[in-house]
Amino acid sequence: MPEQVLSLNGLSKRFGSVVANDDVSLTLRRGEVLALLGENGAGKTTLMNMLFGHYLPDAGTIDVSDEAGRMRPLQLGHPQAALAAGIGMVHQHFTLAENISALDNITLGSEPLLALRRDRKAARAKIEGIIEKSGLKAPLSIPVGRLSVGERQRVEILKALYRDARVLVLDEPTAVLTPQEADTLFENIKAMTNEGLSVIFISHKLREVLAFSDRIAVLRHGVKVGELETSAADEKAIARMMVGAETPKVSRERMAAGAPVMQLKGVSVVGRSKRDTLQCVDLEVRAHEILGIAGISGNGQNALAQVISGLAVPTAGAIHIVDSEISKPTPQAMVSAGVGRIPEDRHREGIVGAMTVAENMVIERLGDMQVQSRGLLRRDAIQSNAKKLAKEYDVRGPGVTAPSRLLSGGNIQKLILARVFEHAPKLILANQPTRGLDMGAAAEVGRRLLEARERGAGVVLISEDLDEILGLADRIVVIRDGQLTETESHDRERIGLMMAGEAA
Ligand SMILES: Nc1ncnc2c1ncn2[C@@H]1O[C@H](COP(=O)(O)OP(=O)(O)OP(=O)(O)O)[C@@H](O)[C@H]1O
Ligand SMILES: [Mg+2]
Repeated sequence: MPEQVLSLNGLSKRFGSVVANDDVSLTLRRGEVLALLGENGAGKTTLMNMLFGHYLPDAGTIDVSDEAGRMRPLQLGHPQAALAAGIGMVHQHFTLAENISALDNITLGSEPLLALRRDRKAARAKIEGIIEKSGLKAPLSIPVGRLSVGERQRVEILKALYRDARVLVLDEPTAVLTPQEADTLFENIKAMTNEGLSVIFISHKLREVLAFSDRIAVLRHGVKVGELETSAADEKAIARMMVGAETPKVSRERMAAGAPVMQLKGVSVVGRSKRDTLQCVDLEVRAHEILGIAGISGNGQNALAQVISGLAVPTAGAIHIVDSEISKPTPQAMVSAGVGRIPEDRHREGIVGAMTVAENMVIERLGDMQVQSRGLLRRDAIQSNAKKLAKEYDVRGPGVTAPSRLLSGGNIQKLILARVFEHAPKLILANQPTRGLDMGAAAEVGRRLLEARERGAGVVLISEDLDEILGLADRIVVIRDGQLTETESHDRERIGLMMAGEAA
């Protein structure tokens, strides 16, 4: 029996009326990979935040082994104590400072500034050593704001490893990675566990949970409802544990496409990097149609999404939305033309975390008469609108007057869905819409997109999840190096090869 490195004992935490964790106990062994599962809002992040000292539990204790392997009580509510005890956490949302380099981000806070300057070379050497061992590659010298999501994620992990973490907590580490990147990441993690690292990771992707964990623990409504060895688990059993029942499959009917709702003609975008570049693309989306854009991240999806949402102005080409040409694209012009947007990074682009749930639900139409009158926001109308939408779209959490940053990841996405679908947009841009969502919530997004399609909307679905595209799209276009290629094929492998640029 390998030695224990961590023991959570009867942890409870409530936020007002929400019981986020209720008497949760959990142990972790040396070299073990434990997957922590549960629906959106089940309390996974809260539990890990107590381990890391971000939240003070209402009840319970935590023991961590010291370097000699003796279990010692952890001082609760102190991130510094958790760090010193060898606990590293990579958060669900990025925490890096965007204007400074990865190197500075990684070393920031772990050494006094003066020492930092003196030991820069040593720091860099240590990081390069970790990169070598782990394979977690990222540019170290340019500002983090210019890195791709995948690179940022690797920098977050490097930062934890740089601080000599013995227990590494990863909150949805692969939500932003391609399947290939995710597999590589887990292979690296497995290699590190051979050197004694213990890992807890949170994920909604059962495939990777089954492939890479040793043990599985499941939370439901804040309570630990099950724990089992991965070798004894299968998808159905876990799904049942998580939701108490199996999730229904989304069914999709054939439908004849209508008139075009979006046309891009020879659109080019010149960007700083590949992900921000489009090379003279033509694209048409019709009413009653879901167009899937498949591709490995960083191949121009970002530029395409920005064009459709009015955030990037093409250097060449024309954009038509429904009947009108958009000569001066701005986000407002696109919304007015009938575009609804589910952004890729819901935290950075989807919501304003400090504003209330209710305010976020109307944020894209602050000029509306229902929302304001003579420049004053109509609080009552905004709140009753929010209550109605929260009910209809099942947005759960601390209530519509709470700041939206307090919602769990899945509930933030439901908030955005409510905002977008409420106005029956003619064109919906869905950029990685189910990233980080549990099965139930992901199925809900699929159902809503199909509903919109039935109603007559056209949908551009950008996703790295090929299964999602195969399940929802009427037509599939592969994006690679800023260029689009339509494919008749709905064959997984063939499209995968096209994404990798290995077949025309
Ligand atoms: N600081 C907070 N204040 C109020 N409520 C909170 C706070 N943090 C979390 N909650 C609530 O506690 C519950 C558990 O949230 P938590 O973030 O732990 O869920 P999760 O399992 O990580 O979900 P997801 O898979 O969506 O990330 C949710 O209902 C959430 O709204
Ligand atoms: Mg979470």
